[in-house]
Amino acid sequence: MSWITVCEFRNLAAGMPVAVMVDGDAICVVRAGADVFAVHDECTHAAVPLSEGEVDGATIECWMHGSKFDLRTGAALNLPATAPVRTYPVRVHDGHVQVSRT
Ligand code: FES
Repeated sequence: MSWITVCEFRNLAAGMPVAVMVDGDAICVVRAGADVFAVHDECTHAAVPLSEGEVDGATIECWMHGSKFDLRTGAALNLPATAPVRTYPVRVHDGHVQVSRT
């Protein structure tokens, strides 16, 4: 598995999503407490950026119509979205937040 640094952990404020591009993929990175999550930065309902949504624990709520997604699994938790959002492996290594696309 190859890892790509997307930001520094110390710059990742809890509950404040960050949008990054990794090899052409738009990814939303979220810190929730000590955990970091990475999901595709596009709501599965109408393709708006999830990184502009609101984080609550390990969920993110789409700002457009209010669907929530589980950041751990990508599952859509309420309508109107029904399809899960893609999740990416993520880790913190030497203070760097790293994402894998494999
Ligand atoms: S665009 Fe996200 S819930 Fe509709």
